[in-house]
Amino acid sequence: MQQVKQTRWGIIGLGNIANTFASDLAFVPNAILHAVASRDLNKAEAFKTTYAANKAYSSYETLAKDPDIDIIYIATPHVFHFENAKLCITYGKAVLCEKPMGMNANQVTELCDLAKKNKVFLMEAMWTAFLPNFNRLMELVDSEKLGKVISFKADFGFKADFIPTSRLFDKNLGGGSILDIGIYPIFACLSLLKKPTSITTNAIIGQTGVDESCIINFNYPKSLKAELKSTLLENTPTEIYIQFEQGVAILGPNFYGPSDLKVIESDGNEIIYPKNTQGSGYQFEATHVQELFHNKNIESSVMSHAKSIELATYLDIVLQEIGVIY
Ligand SMILES: NC(=O)c1ccc[n+]([C@@H]2O[C@H](COP(=O)([O-])OP(=O)(O)OC[C@H]3O[C@@H](n4cnc5c(N)ncnc54)[C@H](OP(=O)(O)O)[C@@H]3O)[C@@H](O)[C@H]2O)c1
Repeated sequence: MQQVKQTRWGIIGLGNIANTFASDLAFVPNAILHAVASRDLNKAEAFKTTYAANKAYSSYETLAKDPDIDIIYIATPHVFHFENAKLCITYGKAVLCEKPMGMNANQVTELCDLAKKNKVFLMEAMWTAFLPNFNRLMELVDSEKLGKVISFKADFGFKADFIPTSRLFDKNLGGGSILDIGIYPIFACLSLLKKPTSITTNAIIGQTGVDESCIINFNYPKSLKAELKSTLLENTPTEIYIQFEQGVAILGPNFYGPSDLKVIESDGNEIIYPKNTQGSGYQFEATHVQELFHNKNIESSVMSHAKSIELATYLDIVLQEIGVIY
């Protein structure tokens, strides 16, 4: 009988998303949560107990050194991704790093170069790219089954409590709407419509010096305009709305995660593709990473290094346009 290969995960930074990701590992075939690391050992011990991990560490470096770990998931605030990923890659560990992978395209490029040099797997945790209905929408656009795209809207907004020291508003922690949530409409637009010919922006900069809200237009040939929005000031539909020549497609609410896809053809025929309901949806990216890791790949063709560098480059352009420099 063939031995099933288990994958031993480690998690660095035990905040909100680390909890959701750890829960979803239960839906990843043969995944084991081997170790977790926090700056606070009590927190790491509690997390270890909750998710039945084997080890709890009070230092990220100790986890990175653990020879029994295959893949490390980095779930710290944006500004630490670069140093945390570098640490893990240097110790020869495969890395799944939360978005944005770095604070700018230079950091992302340096990480990708380091991973290649050390022959270590590295991928940005852009989970949207692995969700079934997002991929169904990509096929709909690419196949031109409903004709060409006439207009495109994508938004991500929620009313956040204004806490100046939180990672959402503190500039030193990479605060602002663009890097945290604007990254999703921008990623979706680059994936579905590809590169724009020009970009215009209009942002509200708050008292901590970060963008609390931003409207971004990606302009394409033949007057096609994508209207993208991110905001920490209001709840928005958080959907992708595409008008085609012969119909409409709506992915949402919460298009960045598992969500329903509704397609309305011009004859009125309506098809709904329901969202998957198992887990929170992080199991798709984790399963993908495991497969590539075991096949000795050092990057994904779905969320490739080039895609992460492209995404970071457009984030740089938008941030420069609105005058937010970290
Ligand atoms: N893919 C997604 O759907 C998704 C969703 C939410 C967030 N994210 C990304 O995941 C990252 C973390 O977001 P989150 O919402 O989980 O944040 P969070 O709840 O604040 O957790 C971040 C963790 O990072 C660690 N950390 C290390 N240095 C820190 C510092 N100086 N200040 C604060 N925390 C520090 C802390 O863990 P220890 O105390 O245990 O060391 C903290 O609990 C962000 O980059 C975000 O973009 C992704």
